[in-house]
Amino acid sequence: MVKPPIGGNRTGRKLGQKVKKGKLKASSRRWLERHINDPYVQRAKLEGYRARAAFKLLEIDEKHNILKGAKRIIDLGAAPGSWSQIAANVTNSTDEDIRVAAIDFLEMDQLPGVKILQLDFLDPEAPAKLMEAVGGVPDLVISDMAAPTTGHQKTDHIRTMHLCEVAAYFAVEVLAEGGHFLAKTFQGGTEKDLLNMLKQNFRQVMHIKPASSRQESVEMFLLAKGFKGKRTGILPHDERPDDLHYDPREDVPASEDLG
Ligand SMILES: C[S@@+](CC[C@H](N)C(=O)[O-])C[C@H]1O[C@@H](n2cnc3c(N)ncnc32)[C@H](O)[C@@H]1O
Repeated sequence: MVKPPIGGNRTGRKLGQKVKKGKLKASSRRWLERHINDPYVQRAKLEGYRARAAFKLLEIDEKHNILKGAKRIIDLGAAPGSWSQIAANVTNSTDEDIRVAAIDFLEMDQLPGVKILQLDFLDPEAPAKLMEAVGGVPDLVISDMAAPTTGHQKTDHIRTMHLCEVAAYFAVEVLAEGGHFLAKTFQGGTEKDLLNMLKQNFRQVMHIKPASSRQESVEMFLLAKGFKGKRTGILPHDERPDDLHYDPREDVPASEDLG
């Protein structure tokens, strides 16, 4: 069971620590204080995970059972790598028999059993490279991708929603029958068309807010379970729906309204 961390911790560090006023800007100091006092951060350290995000995946899995039996997993937006750690573990992936492919445009330290691509997922070549890296048909596509923040909240939301949408179409192109798709989204942000597409292709579609996702954050996860199996295969770039072209230089479609 994924127990929520309570009160203190076993890392030897007390919660409720303050960062001294000094050179840091007030907003950076607040971020640092929140980070070092976050029980999930401390627990990730203790359990050897690269990020607190591990607990979001573990919590979602505990309730919705998506990891068990997965043979090949693709992890989108994987750095620093806690979801990939879990993926390698559940698939028994090894360097000799790779079953997990991970992509991030940030550099990521190597992980046993994980083929890491340092590449933008919106690059037209990313889908084919991921499929080559994972070495077979995946039964789970997980995406924790979040667009780099610009400071303009609505722009950030639209960009992350776009990543979620491109990831969803990728999942439908590549998943094995019965497979699942999990992606980061935002409260109120999932487009009707995307939800309809997922409902047509999966047996169950739901939004989830795990306890380990900060309450003040509008982050949520979109889970589509039980792919019905009409895999399209990776569409050539010019045959994708207009607003899904993998072109990182293009802006996200202006029509997306987060309400
Ligand atoms: C919240 S972090 C992922 C944490 C990860 N799940 C873990 O457990 O360690 C989101 C990641 O998405 C990546 N990302 C955002 N946009 C991306 C893109 N277009 N292509 C590849 N990675 C992207 C970011 O670089 C960032 O590392």
